[in-house]
Amino acid sequence: MKKIAVLGSSNMDFVFTVEEMPRTGETIKSLEFHKVPGGKGANQACACGKLGGDCIFLSAVGKDDSGEILLDSLKRAGVCTEKVLRAEKDTTGMAAIMVNAKGDNSIVIVPGANKACGKSYVEDNTEVIKEADVVLTQLETPEEGVYQFIEAAKAAGKTVILNPAPAPEGIPEEILQGLDYLTPNETELNKLTGMPVETLEELEKASETLLKKGVKNVIVTIGKRGALLSNEAGNRICPAFTGIKAVDTTAAGDTFNAGLAVGLAEGRPLTEAILFANAAAAISVTRKGAQTSIPTKEEADELISAGNEPGSRACTDIWRLPQG
Ligand code: RIB
Repeated sequence: MKKIAVLGSSNMDFVFTVEEMPRTGETIKSLEFHKVPGGKGANQACACGKLGGDCIFLSAVGKDDSGEILLDSLKRAGVCTEKVLRAEKDTTGMAAIMVNAKGDNSIVIVPGANKACGKSYVEDNTEVIKEADVVLTQLETPEEGVYQFIEAAKAAGKTVILNPAPAPEGIPEEILQGLDYLTPNETELNKLTGMPVETLEELEKASETLLKKGVKNVIVTIGKRGALLSNEAGNRICPAFTGIKAVDTTAAGDTFNAGLAVGLAEGRPLTEAILFANAAAAISVTRKGAQTSIPTKEEADELISAGNEPGSRACTDIWRLPQG
């Protein structure tokens, strides 16, 4: 099995279940409250482990109970945490998450110890990058560290996946140039390109602008519609699984990205890796919380087998040629 290195944030999530999101100036009661391990980076590393990947995690937590709980959750998922920094002064990152009756969420984060994942931390861990085959990162830790991680991985010839979440105003041209996989959701694609992303045609056009900047594969996660894959061969929709009842979409994107990383590390062809990622993400939305919602490899593969009947998950081979 090829090795996966994940760089990213670790947060303790404070999750409030509400009927509807509060409006400005409104006070509402939470229906339920849970404190669960989260953070985009930690969720992706945890999902890599649960989905059968050989994963090492680069991150920082505080010397507090939340840090212990996060490390414990990752270790139980089989993730190597020996390079995770224990920050002296800052507390573990936090996220306040509201989940409404439709399963949609709103998130506010407090970076805390995640701030320690800068350029020098990544430089100190260059060996981890060199020993990996696939690397996966997001943008919830300092950008200079993330970009150092990507540049070092590219220079070492690794397969690089950047999940641009939370979406920045822009990504430097040199980072996009030669990037193997960029995996925005619709909102992130809109922010990155400044282009409309309502229709499939608009999604395709926006993705193609990123291909023109040198990204090899753009995979846009489009919720219930699945994922749009754009590369030099054209555009293809990899549909989501049907009949899924979402109770909480927190970490669905993280689970998708981990599924993609594990699928590629296992040597699955790209569309099969996306299918695996879609299956893992589909299961995650049926469960509450971030790391608590991530399925095992067996569960994801079972859903794929169960979905093999015609019509339930058929990967529509709709290819469109890139425009322009
Ligand atoms: O992607 C979901 C994650 O975003 C949550 O776990 C929260 O910690 C925020 O980082």
